[in-house]
Amino acid sequence: MKILAIHGPNLNMLGKREKSLYGEKTLGEIDALLKKEARALNVEVVTFQSNHEGALIDFIQEQADSAHGIIINPGALTHYGFSLLDALADSKLPVIEIHLSNIYCREEWRARSVIAPIAKGQISGLGWRGYITALQVLTGKLNAEA
Ligand code: DQA
Repeated sequence: MKILAIHGPNLNMLGKREKSLYGEKTLGEIDALLKKEARALNVEVVTFQSNHEGALIDFIQEQADSAHGIIINPGALTHYGFSLLDALADSKLPVIEIHLSNIYCREEWRARSVIAPIAKGQISGLGWRGYITALQVLTGKLNAEA
């Protein structure tokens, strides 16, 4: 089983960027924690970050046929990234949307996600642990169904 972990714009700056909102861990550290959990679950995680919407779309199109699910923090593209939304929908893969911060208790414009309608679920505000939980759900370790 192969899961894609995709990080959008500015998430390469984690560890330096607004730590009170996004935590102390770097993206490399979060990816390493995901890969450690993936080894324990006996699945493969392929990680990718870009500051460019087109590069994120290229990655999804290239990888979708061989993947089984997507964990994505779209960064600010969450709020207006319609091309990214289309690529995620076209992948036909289960998508879990992650936000390190709670997007519902910040500026009003952050409370709208254009990605959420096609997502299996969304985890917002639980920091890096949200990625691990998403991996557990996608691989069936955690049952998110009622
Ligand atoms: C974010 C929230 C977005 O509003 C913001 O633009 C980000 C990070 C989060 O992880 O909390 O870049 O997706």
